[in-house]
Amino acid sequence: MTYRSVTKVFRAAPSHDGDGVALRRAFPGADLMDLDPFLLLDHLGPTSLAPGEARGFPPHPHRGFETVTYLLDGEMEHRDSWGNHGTLRPGDVQWMTAGSGLVHSELPGEALVREGGTLHGFQLWVNLPKRDKMIPPRYQDTPSSAIPVARNLAATVTAKVVAGETLGVKGVIETRIPILYLHLTLEPGSRFEQAIPKTRSAFAYVIEGTGEFNDVAVGDNQVVLFDHGGEGVRIANPGAARLSLLLIAGEPIGQPVARYGPFVMNSKEELVQAVDDYQQGRMGVLG
Ligand code: CO
Repeated sequence: MTYRSVTKVFRAAPSHDGDGVALRRAFPGADLMDLDPFLLLDHLGPTSLAPGEARGFPPHPHRGFETVTYLLDGEMEHRDSWGNHGTLRPGDVQWMTAGSGLVHSELPGEALVREGGTLHGFQLWVNLPKRDKMIPPRYQDTPSSAIPVARNLAATVTAKVVAGETLGVKGVIETRIPILYLHLTLEPGSRFEQAIPKTRSAFAYVIEGTGEFNDVAVGDNQVVLFDHGGEGVRIANPGAARLSLLLIAGEPIGQPVARYGPFVMNSKEELVQAVDDYQQGRMGVLG
């Protein structure tokens, strides 16, 4: 296999969103505005919440893209303007297709608020092609137990397959465009290779440990961008500690992006319409 080169490594910027949730924003930011088809990646926490402390994301709308929430620790409760409701626990994934629009809240779950604890996870925004921007909202709430896990022969590399396929194991979540979303764990001394079609945008985010990405050393909370010049990527863990990372790739959509906060459409007119629909309650109302 030929390998993609690393074009850039940068640290995700500490930030806050919602009602004071501490997070690291991999993008958009000064280092990277977007990476078609990806619009945003937030690393939420890990944040320690005292009992009674309930920082989260109070009601807000979305239209025109998908939000993918992957929880590592804690509990997140979800509620939307169309009556949908669910709780995410460690290892669970919610792949939400906002499509034509909804208003939702994402708040720490009851037990987490009552007892306090750690909130830790990720939210990725995946753009939708023009043909899908106004489809009805859809949820793929996928418990940890339903997310396939792949291992190499030596069992030194573990991959939770949120989307796409690795080591002969296919994800169960359906995506509107081809997406690869892996949570990889590499034990010390192990290596991993992943084929990725050349047309796809690809990046990695190191959660814990230090890895070598095509021989470039990268540490925790850093983002790795790959070029399109090879058949795949190679990752090694030469250190003494475990390496944990997200490897994400997707087929670029290649259409104009008009973006205003929680709305991502193709034109300014469609954004004006989105704001109006939201204000008039046409995305539903969440009390
Ligand atoms: Co949201």
